[in-house]
Amino acid sequence: MKICVINFSGNVGKSVISQHLLKPRLENSEIIAVESINSDGTNDEKIKGKRYSDIMDKVMEHDNAIIDVGASNVEDFIQQMNKAIGSHEEFDYFIVPTIYKNKQITDTVATIEALSEVGIEKERIRVLFNLIDEDTILRKDFAPIFETTDIASISINAVIQENELFNRLHEIENFSSINNLVIDNTNYRELIQQTNDKSERLIYSRRLGLKRLAVGVERMLDNTFKELFK
Ligand SMILES: Nc1ncnc2c1ncn2[C@@H]1O[C@H](COP(=O)(O)OP(=O)(O)O)[C@@H](O)[C@H]1O
Ligand SMILES: [Mg+2]
Repeated sequence: MKICVINFSGNVGKSVISQHLLKPRLENSEIIAVESINSDGTNDEKIKGKRYSDIMDKVMEHDNAIIDVGASNVEDFIQQMNKAIGSHEEFDYFIVPTIYKNKQITDTVATIEALSEVGIEKERIRVLFNLIDEDTILRKDFAPIFETTDIASISINAVIQENELFNRLHEIENFSSINNLVIDNTNYRELIQQTNDKSERLIYSRRLGLKRLAVGVERMLDNTFKELFK
């Protein structure tokens, strides 16, 4: 499966979704990040035709690939997709994450419309509501997005809750996946009891906290993945 994660806006969770929702659930998948930085370290403002071909070559290298298009590249990316007729067909899905902020909601609608104009059908354009909390009323808070139901697939169950875990993963050295936290069998409670050192206790207590969060987040993401591709 080839999945493109895309939005004109930054900070909607494209990278988090690529890394923590999609990659662990697509066997042997690779994330291809389209950023403004070239492999030689120079900063190339525009994605020109050659660069688009290179990106598509990379997509073709894998059976399962996730392409994370950085916000500053989306316009060029869609332009090139328009030029290379039919190239959008390489992707099974276009995931458009969105969050409850005016700019991001406006940009999400624009992204959906741009994808639709390229010729991508409703079934392949999927909205993913991110950073959701108990107070969110999806149909009301994201009303402009629900007006695109004729050109995009929108499910009120394709949701990722706001969770502090995503911003705390840097606390762990050599962190590789949320699942690694889930399967960590270290008995932190015992370790805590065995020491009187306050700072050591704090380290164990934080690890235990992260593990507990991870169990819940993994469950949630399993469910999100299922709902997103229904
Ligand atoms: N569901 C979530 N809960 C809490 N924080 C989140 C969630 N999704 C994303 N974030 C945080 O929001 C910020 C932006 O996410 P990121 O994936 O970098 O967005 P993008 O790649 O679209 O610019 C990051 O700090 C990330 O950790
Ligand atoms: Mg990103």
